[in-house]
Amino acid sequence: MYSEKVMDHFTNPRNVGEIEGASGVGTVGNAKCGDIMRMYLDIDDNGIIQDCKFKTFGCGAAIATSSMATELVKGKTIQEALQVTNKAVMEALDGLPPVKVHCSLLAEEAIHAALWDYAEKHGIKIEGLQKPKADISEGEEDEEY
Ligand code: FES
Repeated sequence: MYSEKVMDHFTNPRNVGEIEGASGVGTVGNAKCGDIMRMYLDIDDNGIIQDCKFKTFGCGAAIATSSMATELVKGKTIQEALQVTNKAVMEALDGLPPVKVHCSLLAEEAIHAALWDYAEKHGIKIEGLQKPKADISEGEEDEEY
């Protein structure tokens, strides 16, 4: 039921770890399943994401989506990184089973949280970026689970 790419990124996740002195760090969780993800971004003076690492305490789909998300945002500008939505991550992984789609939201929100942290540290405003939720299950309908 999982694509080969999902299995590959789950069993061999890319960019796992931390970045010391990261430009931005974002942590998000999903209180319903208890999974947590932390994303670290290293952004240079030109606003290019030079490096990206993550740590996920979560299910296989959360690990695979965070791994793919880090691959997708590396080398991108901040504005391009905002286009790395959970849909883009899922497409890059050749899809996820419907019950696992919500797991991919962790990666998208963690990128946003890290960018938000970066913006706050630098006193700037990132066009199109809204304050991320610390808990992505907030405000969701219960019947989705
Ligand atoms: Fe929680 Fe997948 S079940 S992120």
